[in-house]
Amino acid sequence: LRLCLFLFSLLLAALQGDVAAALTRRDFPDGFVFGAGTSSYQVEGAVAEDGRKPSIWDTFSQGGYSADKSNGDVAADQYHHYKEDVKLMHEMGLDAYRFSIAWPRLIPDGRGDVNPKGLEYYNNLIDELIRHGIQPHVTIYHFDLPQSLQDEYDGLLSPRFVDDYTMFAETCFKSFGDRVKHWVTLNEPNVEGLGGFDTGTMPPRRCSYPFGANCTAGDSTREPYIAAHHLLLAHAAAVSLYRSKYQEAQRGQVGITLLAAWYEPATAASPDDVAAAARMNDFEIGWFMHPLVYGDYPPVMKSRVGARLPAMTMDLSKNLTGSFDFIGLNHYLMLNARHDEHAFNLKHRDYAADTAIADAMKDIQEGHGKYAPWALGSLLDHMRVNYGNPPIIIHENGRADFVKDPSTIRTDDYPRSEVLQDYLEVLHMSIRNGSDARGYFVWSFLDLFELANGNTLRFGLIGVDMTVKERTRYVRNSARWYSSFLNGGELRQ
Ligand code: NOJ
Repeated sequence: LRLCLFLFSLLLAALQGDVAAALTRRDFPDGFVFGAGTSSYQVEGAVAEDGRKPSIWDTFSQGGYSADKSNGDVAADQYHHYKEDVKLMHEMGLDAYRFSIAWPRLIPDGRGDVNPKGLEYYNNLIDELIRHGIQPHVTIYHFDLPQSLQDEYDGLLSPRFVDDYTMFAETCFKSFGDRVKHWVTLNEPNVEGLGGFDTGTMPPRRCSYPFGANCTAGDSTREPYIAAHHLLLAHAAAVSLYRSKYQEAQRGQVGITLLAAWYEPATAASPDDVAAAARMNDFEIGWFMHPLVYGDYPPVMKSRVGARLPAMTMDLSKNLTGSFDFIGLNHYLMLNARHDEHAFNLKHRDYAADTAIADAMKDIQEGHGKYAPWALGSLLDHMRVNYGNPPIIIHENGRADFVKDPSTIRTDDYPRSEVLQDYLEVLHMSIRNGSDARGYFVWSFLDLFELANGNTLRFGLIGVDMTVKERTRYVRNSARWYSSFLNGGELRQ
């Protein structure tokens, strides 16, 4: 009997393998978009050119707070290489390119005059994409707040951010909306709240406990929630404006993109761990999804954060409910959550997760690959069951190489394409199970300045030599695989 079972399982595995091997892009729904992405500060460079002024990320990285003390002054220099990059995208067969608009390039003082050179750059980039048949998917705000607004009123901590952001968003709709049909209001607002005001790993580096040497005084018990609340207000305002003034004429879609790790109980048999994992998911993705779908914060956040959580007004609740045409998800990690009285009791932590957070990231950085592609399926089930099955675009998914020698560019980037294949198989299965996924973007199109990790991590399908002035591009094997898949080839080659 054992032998029979063994032979049967072999047969099953072979069949499953066959099905997986045979998967092509035609097996995804009609109109499904395959792309790759970047963000302005991480790729553009040219930080002091043509009227651009500093963002809070210039201040952070020029202050030496990234892992290798590098900065984004030049990054991949896409500002000067955009034509070459669009040509590479075209050769790769991308349907779409996701990029963001640098607020301090378009409106250098944060509000007021529009910089004609900034306008010209994004017009050129968008036109070049369209000429090559590539859809622009534009993130309006991807972390790079003008430094002037930080200095003037503490940036995200002030409700004044909302009006300035809305004006910036309107400038984008007005200037580019004739050609841009996919808008993302904010990238990972759920990360900005924590990174900027709890862990200090992002600007403005505020936190009230010694999490990292990078922090300056703040109040981690409140500020992350205040910043996130203002981001929610800003999102709601921009979407209302787009819907009332631009959407009908421009016939575009607007959404928001959230970090979406997936938390699993460290011990499935432990009710405490199960509750901890659910809490983590609520404190991370629910922090924004709950307001976007139900007009209020998740009940567990309300009960645990209490009065420190800003109140949801009737107006805001109404404006937030249903304020998206799609939800973008950035998914990289599965993390184990464990009930932990100690973590739980710290004043600034309203949830508990075990050290798997740090471990998983480190494993991935070092290329040991602790991946759990099935977690994407759990995440999509969660979105389907708990948030009304919204249209989803996977806006980021990828794998980083940890760089030991910055002058070596590896084009043989095994196992990046294998990892992406695993995720695409899971995504395909989730669609078959009823998830409304409509697009998938690899992070990242090319190597970029990886924020707090500086130039120590490389995510690119295209490699960039950050040690030479020319910022030479190299086509990696993963780019060749993606290209062949996008041109109709089998997923696993
Ligand atoms: C999330 C962010 O949106 C992006 O800026 C970053 O480079 C990637 N994830 C990888 O960490």
